[in-house]
Amino acid sequence: MENRLNVAVQKKGRLFDGSLELLKSGGISINNGKDQLKASSHNFPLDVLYLRNSDIPQYVVDGVADIAVVGENLLVEKNADVEVIEKLGFSKCRLSIAIPKESEYNGIEDLNGKRIATSYPVTLQKFLDEKGIDAEIHVISGSVEIAPNIGLSDAICDLVSSGSTLFKNGLVEKEVILKSQAVIVKNKNLSPEKEALIDKVIFRIRTVLRARK
Ligand code: PRP
Ligand code: MG
Repeated sequence: MENRLNVAVQKKGRLFDGSLELLKSGGISINNGKDQLKASSHNFPLDVLYLRNSDIPQYVVDGVADIAVVGENLLVEKNADVEVIEKLGFSKCRLSIAIPKESEYNGIEDLNGKRIATSYPVTLQKFLDEKGIDAEIHVISGSVEIAPNIGLSDAICDLVSSGSTLFKNGLVEKEVILKSQAVIVKNKNLSPEKEALIDKVIFRIRTVLRARK
């Protein structure tokens, strides 16, 4: 059987366009039906799997996908045992704690006893533990910035890019927990044949990234 590389990318969301564009500018064309969950390249032995963002790290760990484009922040959250092969320089963002603009805030101690809504409980808990803060974490999977407005929490911890979602919801950023960008990761136990294919893909991608600088 022909060796083909399985590449996982976000099905929808902010990494989707950048991921496909990168492959395309590396000369790898993907026959893209948007509703398809798997698409093949006809000029490179590679298939693209469109997956839910939060599932991607585990798919790479399990070897369902050989490589993936994913946000660094998600690798931290999922404690994923994968190898980062290239930082891609797009989808830059930070994971931050924000509070309603009218709330008083004199420092991180003010988060003691507060309820914080987030989709990144592991990363947030680790940060709070390091700072010695005892707060209650509420996990929600999206639209986190609405939580203080509906009385669900006193603060939020979510990704910030332009800052416009915070602004529109009357929130201000107070603590930056980590900075993130899109990266390519690979499974740690690949066959030499797959490694050779990855080298080819990465070579092309590096050429594209260098040209962008
Ligand atoms: C992401 C993230 C923030 C927002 C940050 O949400 O969760 O809410 O983008 O971007 P900004 O600072 O440029 O406004 P997304 O729109 O992907 O939706 P979701 O949280 O509901 O998944
Ligand atoms: Mg959001």
